[in-house]
Formats: sequence, C-alpha cells, structure tokens
Amino acid sequence: MDQAIGSTKPDSPDMAAAPAVERGRFIKNAWYVGLWASELPAGTLVPQTILSEPVVFFRKQDGTPAAILDRCAHRFVPLSMGTLVPGDRVQCPYHGLEFGADGRCMNNPHPPGTIPTAAHLPSFHVVEKYSMIWIWMGDKPADPSLIPDYSCLETSPAIHITDPGYLSIKANYELIANNLLDLSHVVYVHGGILGSPGLEQSDIKLETHGDVVTVSRFVKDVETPGMFQMMAPEGYERGDSFTSISWYAPSNLLLKTGSCKTGQPQESGTGYWGIHLLTPETERTTHYRYSAVRWNVMTQGDEKNEQIRQKIGELRTFAFADQDAPIIEAQQRRIVASTTKLEPALLAIDAGPVRCRRILDRLLLEDR
Ligand code: FES
Ligand SMILES: [Fe+2]
Repeated sequence: MDQAIGSTKPDSPDMAAAPAVERGRFIKNAWYVGLWASELPAGTLVPQTILSEPVVFFRKQDGTPAAILDRCAHRFVPLSMGTLVPGDRVQCPYHGLEFGADGRCMNNPHPPGTIPTAAHLPSFHVVEKYSMIWIWMGDKPADPSLIPDYSCLETSPAIHITDPGYLSIKANYELIANNLLDLSHVVYVHGGILGSPGLEQSDIKLETHGDVVTVSRFVKDVETPGMFQMMAPEGYERGDSFTSISWYAPSNLLLKTGSCKTGQPQESGTGYWGIHLLTPETERTTHYRYSAVRWNVMTQGDEKNEQIRQKIGELRTFAFADQDAPIIEAQQRRIVASTTKLEPALLAIDAGPVRCRRILDRLLLEDR
C-alpha cells in the first residue's frame, strides 16, 4: 500500500484514528530490546523494568542470556540485589531462596526445605542477536525470525559503528516512534545537523508492508546537511538528500539516510543506517537505545574514520537528548496534565503515525 503523504486528506477515513496518547496496556507478544549485549557482562544481575514488569537479566555459565521476574516469590525483594550462584541460579539476598534460569525455585535452605508451588517465578524468552539481548514477554511462541534485521551491526567494521547509545525518555514509546517517523520535524528541530533549508519542500512517501510502515523523503539538489558533508569528500556540498525510516511494530525502527551528487544513484553517495530501539519501561517512560552504521564509506584512514565515528555518535546523541527529548517529554507532560480528552488536529504529515496506530490497535486486540 503506497501513498504520497502530500496527497492524504486530513479528514479522510485513514486519518480518522487519532495518534495514541495513552493506552494503559502493552503488546506483550512482541520482541523488545532488553539490553545491549554489552550491558550484560558475565556474572552480573542487571535489572530493567519492561512493560511495567521488573525483570532481571543474567548470563548462564554457557554465556547465553536469561531473564526472570525480578521479584522474589517469598517477600518480593528484587532478586537483582542478590547473587548468581553455581548452577545458573539467582540467590535472593534476603532469605536465600534460589531460582533457576527458567524461574523455578530450586532450593529452599530453610528446614525442612520444601518448595511451595507458589515459590516458582515467571521467566521470559530471551535471545542474543545483532549485539542486543531481545526479550519476549507474551505467552505466544517466541519466534526469533520475527526480530527485525539489524545485521548491519554485525557485518560492518567496528570503526564504522557508533557506540551503543542509551537514553531514558520520560514519554510513552508511541510519542517517540511518532517523532522518528515524522521526517517533517527535522527542519525545525534539527536544523543544521540533519536538516537544511529546502528539505521541508520535499515529497514524503508512505508505504505499508504487513506490520512495517516506511516513510521516505527525497529532495533534489539542496545544500547537503552538515552530518553528511562531514562524511563525504569535497564536492558533496550540494546534492540530493534522502531518508527512509521503517517502523517494525510495535517499537523498533531502522533508518537509512544519506546524500549523493545531484541526479546520481543514491548508492553512489554516502550516509548511515540509524538503529532506533524503543522499549516501553512504563506507560510514560521508555528505554531508547540507538546506534548508527555508515554505508558506502568514502573517507580514508583509521584516524579520520574514528573521528567521524565519534562525531556521528555525539551529534546523534545531541539531536535525541537535547533536541527531540525535551519536546517529546514536554508533549507528554501536556497530555498528562490535560483535564479534557485531547483530539489532535491532524495534518497530512501525520499519515505515518496514524497508520502505525491502526496496526497497534489490531495487535493489541490479537494480543489478548
Ligand atoms: S524475600 Fe527472597 S527469600 Fe525471602
Ligand atoms: Fe528528531
């Protein structure tokens, strides 16, 4: 299903569903990023609230990840305050109950040592893929082939991949996904870094394939945004600029962006893949992990490429933390503070978020 956003009438049936504000529930049967793999060293217990549930991650002795409820079945102490003991068990710090990677209570050190049924805890499906620990918290089969393709994180040389980024955002994940899918805000929020005069006049296109929504923009012969001038040799001060961002329901996104010489194939230019991973922490807070991977690298030399790697990481962190986050968090606060039911005035540029919301509405029904 393809559509030029400029042709979408705000009052058309497709726009009838307002962007989500608060839902009060989550899609559980989906893959979310629990942690970057590097956030889970062997021998550690790492707590993380996901979909409002306390989860503790750890690695088994064979190195594979595991995750169980981070709340002891006895007196509800966080197990992440405890210790990893031999046999891939987590020992509660309070009275020493031990839980296996499957959540089952394996040892009660207090005589007579019986283990009540209520002592067993839920565990979660986890898989390590593309330098991340993915978690599935629903009860339907967890199929790792449903994880979106972030293989560029594994196949590209490390010198072209920015450090794994993390921000805690005080806003619902849908507001952040809407921001990422909304290419029109770039000119206003990220002028100079990612935006350039003229970009707002570009055509924005919307496509849907299954539960994947892609918004793309192409603009001919403009001043190359600062980020891409830095990544290109001389002669790329002007050219065609392009961005395409895909949202994989419910909350992971992959962007491809770059610049090339006017009228040349996009692949002849240079740019990066942007990895955006949103994991709902609560209804009003989100774990936001991100990274970038350069494609068709044109600059030479390790020293130069390391400088560019660092700079891309810094600029993107600045864009998210100092430019996007304050707006999204303020938006969330206004929404929460409203004493009346909010009905947003929809513009043609909202077609992407509206399409996503329709998919989320269906997935929420299927999730029950
Ligand atoms: S609270 Fe965990 S063993 Fe008592
Ligand atoms: Fe942004």
